[in-house]
Amino acid sequence: MIDLSTGVLQATDAFPSEFPIAAFQKNLITWFSKEKRDLPWRNNVPPYQVWISEIMLQQTRVDQVIPYYERFLDHFPTVALLAQANLDDVLRIWEGLGYYSRARNLHRGAADVMNLHNGEIPDSYAQLLTISGIGPYTAAAISSIVFGEAQAVVDGNVIRVLTRLFGFADVVSTSASKKWLSVAANTLLDPNAPGPFNEAMMELGALVCTPRKPKCGTCPVAKYCRAQKTETQLQFPVKKPKKKTPHLNIAVGVIQDDRGHILIQKRPVTAMLGGLWEFPGGKQEREEPIEVTCWREIVEETGLQVNVGAKIASIDHAYSHFKITLHAFYCDPGEPIKIESSLETKWVAREELVDYAFPRANRRLLEIMSGDSDGTRMD
Ligand code: ADE
Repeated sequence: MIDLSTGVLQATDAFPSEFPIAAFQKNLITWFSKEKRDLPWRNNVPPYQVWISEIMLQQTRVDQVIPYYERFLDHFPTVALLAQANLDDVLRIWEGLGYYSRARNLHRGAADVMNLHNGEIPDSYAQLLTISGIGPYTAAAISSIVFGEAQAVVDGNVIRVLTRLFGFADVVSTSASKKWLSVAANTLLDPNAPGPFNEAMMELGALVCTPRKPKCGTCPVAKYCRAQKTETQLQFPVKKPKKKTPHLNIAVGVIQDDRGHILIQKRPVTAMLGGLWEFPGGKQEREEPIEVTCWREIVEETGLQVNVGAKIASIDHAYSHFKITLHAFYCDPGEPIKIESSLETKWVAREELVDYAFPRANRRLLEIMSGDSDGTRMD
């Protein structure tokens, strides 16, 4: 039995040989079979569906994923149809789920399945890794859940469970810590039920071993957990102190021509939010009045000598590593109306803007313009 009284573990320590692996597996999997949520990607679902779900579930909560998962499969029911689809359509269906590189990579991954694997999603961890957008986590999830291969998944939920279980005291983001946690997860993995084991670990992290208020009273493996024994649950996982998130002011122009059409531009595919459409604009420079930012950025991006008019709204939005305030202005296009831009640029009728994928803050701006939303800081 693990000695729960002795402090903590570090990445240089061996996996504790006294840990009761078989009892842990049994308690965990029995709990999972009773308590698991009934989710649309569970119970013998084909690999394509599991792939979509696992990509969506990275960085996104289950309740937010479910409607997107269903809508995505309605539009792209097979890997062949996803591969043939236009990236614009894929991004439009993904719009609002965030982390858009996931959608671009899924689209590229579908092409890889068609081109490299004759349209069949590979059935092994090693072969899954040959597909764009499938890294160790997704390959382990698909190969274990669908094909029963003994590969442990390590995601944020699993890291929380493991670090509490063992009192793992090192910062989790170092490569030595990642290695230790992967070895620990693979050592605990039940080779006879790798899929249920992996899902059970993630489910435990999602439902019981939660970040702020873990429900240790209902935890099926609490008796093996160092953190609960020493009441140090909230100290794990140990993370590097966060840097203060930078804040950017961005000015954009809603430029309308005399037909009422509005100018939008497509972000380069390789950029953040790549492939999404937006109103022309950009970052405020130091000390620059925000209207000047709007004018300068539009001149740089479109060549139009716009006249910046009334403010529409200021919209706050947080990305994972920085925050923005989007300041939006009505603009008239000035003379001559001749676009010079390296970006794909379109004049679009207002009612057709719903057909284009926009980043969240731009979409909120459109809602404000059509009077559907006031959920913003307006000045
Ligand atoms: N989080 C990501 N994938 C999951 C899965 N298959 N089961 C439970 N939680 C998850």
